[in-house]
Amino acid sequence: MKKENQQHDEDRKDEDLVSGIKIEHNKVPKLLVAVFYVVAIWAIGYAIFMPGKLEVEPEAAPQDNKGELIFTGTCLNCHATGAAPDLKGVTDRLKEEDIKNVIKNGRNTMPAIGHLYTDKEIDKVYEFLEDYR
Ligand code: HEC
Repeated sequence: MKKENQQHDEDRKDEDLVSGIKIEHNKVPKLLVAVFYVVAIWAIGYAIFMPGKLEVEPEAAPQDNKGELIFTGTCLNCHATGAAPDLKGVTDRLKEEDIKNVIKNGRNTMPAIGHLYTDKEIDKVYEFLEDYR
């Protein structure tokens, strides 16, 4: 019977090793306590620091194409009709501040439309324009 158990122990080495050490040595509970504290401290750290990060992500997803939405919804009304210059590769031709200035304050026949958008949204439009070619 004993021999059979031993065989059995060897078959399930991982599991038996853990409980074997647990019972026979005093040091293991200390180790487990240490592990517990490490995990607890990590969990507290996680609780404090991660929510901030998690807040950013749900917001980032829907805003990712915000620039594109504004561009197709507003800018293309003029900029795809020949009424206004083609904006493909415009970030190569004009400086960032000039482009944002045109959006905010208009230029010649382009109306100022900056008041329709937050600075962040204008940043998004600019980011979209960087890839629009
Ligand atoms: C009502 C029509 C209209 C809308 C809407 C419009 N634009 Fe324009 N845009 C123009 C016209 C017309 C010009 C040419 C202005 C000029 O001749 O100086 C222009 C010029 C520009 C220029 C300068 C291009 C160059 O090659 O010098 C940029 C950049 C620009 N628009 C960006 C935008 C963006 C971004 C939007 C959307 C947020 C937008 N525009 C919406 C009519 C419009």
